[in-house]
This record gives sequence, C-alpha cells and structure tokens, in this order.
Amino acid sequence: MKVLVCGGAGYIGSACSEYLLDHSYEVTVFDSLITGHRKAVDSRAEFIKGDLADRDLIIKVCENGRFDAIMHFAAFSLVGESMRDPSKYFRNNLANGINLADAAVAGRVKTIVFSSTAATFGEPEESPIRETTAQNPINPYGESKLAFEKVLKWYSIIHGVKYAALRYFNAAGASANFGEDHNPETHLIPLILQVAQGKRDKIVIFGDDYVTPDGTCIRDYIHILDLAQAHMLALDAPESGHYNLGTGNGLSVREIVETARRVTGHAIPAEIGSRRSGDPDRLIAGSELARRILGWKPQFENAYDIVSSAWEWIRKNPDGYNDK
Ligand code: UFG
Repeated sequence: MKVLVCGGAGYIGSACSEYLLDHSYEVTVFDSLITGHRKAVDSRAEFIKGDLADRDLIIKVCENGRFDAIMHFAAFSLVGESMRDPSKYFRNNLANGINLADAAVAGRVKTIVFSSTAATFGEPEESPIRETTAQNPINPYGESKLAFEKVLKWYSIIHGVKYAALRYFNAAGASANFGEDHNPETHLIPLILQVAQGKRDKIVIFGDDYVTPDGTCIRDYIHILDLAQAHMLALDAPESGHYNLGTGNGLSVREIVETARRVTGHAIPAEIGSRRSGDPDRLIAGSELARRILGWKPQFENAYDIVSSAWEWIRKNPDGYNDK
C-alpha cells in the first residue's frame, strides 16, 4: 500500500512515516520544510519538497503517484500565534487543505487520515471528552482544524473519499530516530527537558489556581508511536469517522515536572507564573471508539515511559536536528 504523508518532516509525521515503513508500507513524504526538518524524513521514504499552497503541484503529485491513502499532518499548530494571525491558520490549515482534498479526488485516492486536535473542543462541556462532545473551538487554530473536518465530511459524501479525523490530545515522546524539535519551542515536556539539559534555568508553570487537585492544568499526554499506530489502523477503518486519541489518564503540569526530575535526575527548578490565556483546566480523552472500532491499543500508558523516550532522543540529539 502506498501512502502520501503530507507534513512527514514534522514531529508526528516523521514518526508516523517511520512506523508505516516498518510495517511494509511505501511512503512518499511531501513537506514544505517551513517547520519540518529534512533530517526528519526517513531515508526509506521518497521525498518531495512542496507546499500545499501550490495547488497545481499537489494535484500533479496525486495524479501521478497512485497513492492508496493520504495522511495529512501539514499544518500550523500554535494556539497563541493563531490568535495573533488568524489568516495564516485559515490559509494553511483550511484553504491549502482544500487543495489537498481536491488533489485526492483528482488522483482517485480512496482514504485520507487527518491530524485533528483536542483544540476543536475548546472548553469542553464534559470530561473525559467523547467524540459526541460538542465542538466549540476558542481559537483560530482549533476552528481551522474543525473546519477541515467538515470539508472532509462533505468530500466523503460527495466524492466518496473515506476519511478518519484523529483528534490528538497532547502528543509527546519520541521514537528511536525522530523527536520533537520546534522553533520556537512552546510545549511543556521539551521545555522541561531543556532545563535538564542546562539550556534554561527553570520551567515556569502557567498558573496553580486551576480547579484540579494540585491547582495546575491537567492534560492527556499520548506517545507519538501510539498516534502512529492509530494512523495505520485508521487506513483500514470500515467507514469514515472521528476518533479522540489519548490514554484517558490526566497528568498535571506538576506531575510532569516531577516525572521529568525522576527521569533525568536533574532538580529542574520550577516557578509558578501567571496563567496562559485559553488554557482549560482539564483535557482528557475518551478513546473508547478508537479502541473498539480501530482496535487501537496504546503501548505507552505511563508518564515515565513517555518522558524517558523524549529524554533519550534529546540525549542523542542535544541540538535537535540542528538544521534551522
Ligand atoms: N505549560 C506550562 N509552562 C510552559 C509550557 C506549558 O505550565 O512553559 C502548561 C500549559 O499551560 C498546559 C500544559 O503545560 O497546561 C501543556 O501545554 P503545551 O503547550 O505543551 O500543550 P497544550 O495543551 O497547550 O497544547 C496541545 C497541542 C496543541 C493543541 C492542544 C489541544 O500542542 O496543538 O494540545 O489540547 F491545540
């Protein structure tokens, strides 16, 4: 089976490409390298440098490629940036996504697996968050991802392209070869590990007055290899669907800091700062549907293993891909 991985040079796309190749799929990575890294493209994959804004190019790639499926990771994903520059998010995540959906139709690609997000739920009205929970995004990032879920729904009805929208909670960890290297880095676990590396003095915890047992925000951290497994299984889903992907175990910011101290043996000084706007108290996935329909079985259910894998990758790659 031949899969086009758009955004395959990014954090989650690179690990998914590797996972597919390990399971005997043929992979072509299509990536603009704006946020991705050439070194994050598995050497067994074919690589095409291109931007989904280039409608003619992506249509040509799909018409010539005879792909069985597309995985779509290529998007911008910073909540704060989306509040300052909504145009950037709607152009790339929605308009350029439509170029890809049209290319799928032109190339007769049967299936699209789409990287959606827990951010489509906004301030969720229930916990754990189920697929049926109301989606009310509170930032342009989440709105752009929700809008593209709807595009896919109509393309499946009208053009018969099957899709799976996978709503990741907090992607974390690393595979043996590929890890997290964002510039700027805004995510909790890599920032904490930069303290352990000596690159930062401390981690600032964004608020300790949330309605949670220790006052810090609770998130559902899911290993990227478990996300990769879900993507592969979604290729064979019987019909189109939406799936929330998390372990179902919430961990507070303090618990993650504590875990990183145990993993690294570093004291990791932490200081309480003010809240970051738009952070809900608690985001926990209800992933029964993925387990039942896709047969998904996450392998990394505890924080120690997730943080350890990220730490191992950083120790092997202290400056990340070192290419920006
Ligand atoms: N946090 C800190 N200090 C930091 C960085 C983060 O306390 O220096 C806290 C945040 O306030 C939050 C938690 O750590 O409570 C996790 O923050 P991240 O930035 O790592 O992740 P988010 O939960 O904000 O975002 C992730 C994805 C988004 C997605 C969102 C949806 O990165 O793309 O989940 O749930 F939109």
